[in-house]
Amino acid sequence: MKPIVFKTIEDAYIIQTAKHHRVALDDEFLTGFGSGFLNIYYKAWIDSPYSYNIVAIESESEEDLNSDPSQIIVAGAMLVALDPSNHYRYIFRHHIWSLTFAATKASLSKPTFLFKLLQTRGIYYLQGISKMTLRSIKSSLKSIIMKMSSNPKSDSPADMVDDSNKHEPLRIAELTHIFTDKEYRRLGIATTMIKMLKDQCESQNISRIELVTPAESDAVRFYEKLGFSNLGTLVAKTKESFIKFQLDI
Ligand SMILES: CC(C)(COP(=O)(O)OP(=O)(O)OC[C@H]1O[C@@H](n2cnc3c(N)ncnc32)[C@H](O)[C@@H]1OP(=O)(O)O)[C@@H](O)C(=O)NCCC(=O)NCCS
Repeated sequence: MKPIVFKTIEDAYIIQTAKHHRVALDDEFLTGFGSGFLNIYYKAWIDSPYSYNIVAIESESEEDLNSDPSQIIVAGAMLVALDPSNHYRYIFRHHIWSLTFAATKASLSKPTFLFKLLQTRGIYYLQGISKMTLRSIKSSLKSIIMKMSSNPKSDSPADMVDDSNKHEPLRIAELTHIFTDKEYRRLGIATTMIKMLKDQCESQNISRIELVTPAESDAVRFYEKLGFSNLGTLVAKTKESFIKFQLDI
C-alpha cells in the first residue's frame, strides 16, 4: 500500500470521494439519492466557507495527486460544519436549487426510494425548507431595515458600547460524515482526520465537536475510543435511533 496523504477536498477529488462515500456509508439515507446527487452535495459542501473537509488519498507523490483525478485512490474522507448555522444558511442561499433538482431527479428515477422518502421524510424536509426560507427572508428584511435606519454619526466613541466583558458564545463544530474504506480500516486513518479537525477547531477557537451516529453503528466504539462523551440516544422524527457524541477541546 502507498502512503496515505490527507488533503482538503477540492473539486478534482469530488467524483472519487463521493463514489467511496456511497460505498462506505451505504446505509445512510443521503446515499440513496445516488452518485449524481452526492457529487452536487459535495460541491455545495466544499464551496461553503464555514466547512472543513478532508480526503485521505493513497499516494506516493505529489505527481500522483496531480494526475488524472479519476485515478486517485480515496481511502476515506470527513465533512465538518465548523459554524453550522452559517454553513447551512450558505448552502441554502447558494445551492438549494441545484440540490433540490438533483434530489428530485434521483427520486423520480427510483420509485421505491421516492415512496420511502415521502413516507419517512417528506413532511420534515418540507418543514425544514419552509423554515429556512422564512429565516432567510427575515434576515434580508432585517438587514435592509438596519441599513435604512443606520446613522453614520452614531459611531462616535460616546455611542460605542463596551462589550469587552460579554461572554463569547460557545462555538461548536458539527461532524456530519466520516468514513474509511473497508480495506483501509483500523489503520488510524479516521483517528488522523479527527486529530486534524481538533487542530483546526483549536486554531479557530471552536471548543466543542458534536455529532450523531446511528445507534447500531461500529462507529460508536470508534468515538468512545477517541474520548468522545456518549450523551445518550436520540430518536429522530423518522423513528431512527442515533447516539449523540461530543468532544470538548
Ligand atoms: C468508524 C470508522 C470511520 C473508523 O475508521 P478507521 O479509520 O478504521 O478508524 P481508526 O483506525 O482510526 O480506529 C481507531 C480506533 O477506533 C476503534 N474502532 C474503529 N473501528 C472499530 C470497529 N469497527 N469496532 C470496534 N472498534 C473500532 C478501535 O479502538 C481503533 O483502534 P485499534 O484499531 O487500535 O483497536 C470506519 O469504521 C467507517 O468508515 N465506518 C463506516 C462509516 C461510519 O460508520 N461512519 C461514522 C458515521 S458518520
